[in-house]
Amino acid sequence: MSTPLPQTVYMDNHATTRVDPRVLEAMLPWFGESYGNAGSLGHAFGQQARAAVEDARARLASALGTEPETIIFTSGATESNNLAIRGVAGHTSRRGNHWLSVGTEHHSVLEPLLRLARALGCGSIPKKWPMRCATRPAWSP
Ligand SMILES: Cc1ncc(COP(=O)(O)O)c(C=O)c1O
Repeated sequence: MSTPLPQTVYMDNHATTRVDPRVLEAMLPWFGESYGNAGSLGHAFGQQARAAVEDARARLASALGTEPETIIFTSGATESNNLAIRGVAGHTSRRGNHWLSVGTEHHSVLEPLLRLARALGCGSIPKKWPMRCATRPAWSP
């Protein structure tokens, strides 16, 4: 691995960010000696990993002032954005489908919005901004 030049400044922290040394220290055991899959509860390795995940969830919820069951861990921003957009779309579709975004948004936001638009009958939408697709709400009170 090459060492960055001293005058180099990393400015892409939206893409990825250096891990906080405290996080690294807390995580190191889970990359080394304790590497069970938190979804594999049939053995002690998985149970130990699950307990650690639930502990992290509880601590994070407490720090954020929310309930542990509202914390969902994902693998990164793409998964999070897909989950949020599809989740909200599924939950609110009866009230109509009105989405706004901006052309500078990341593909992990634009692509699920495009898929939603196609699913709503917008057909093939050129990937050129501004994109417009007007459909009637699926249901209105
Ligand atoms: C603004 C922004 N959103 C989302 C992503 C996707 O992140 P991930 O690789 O964690 O899925 C990136 C990655 O570069 C990004 O810069």
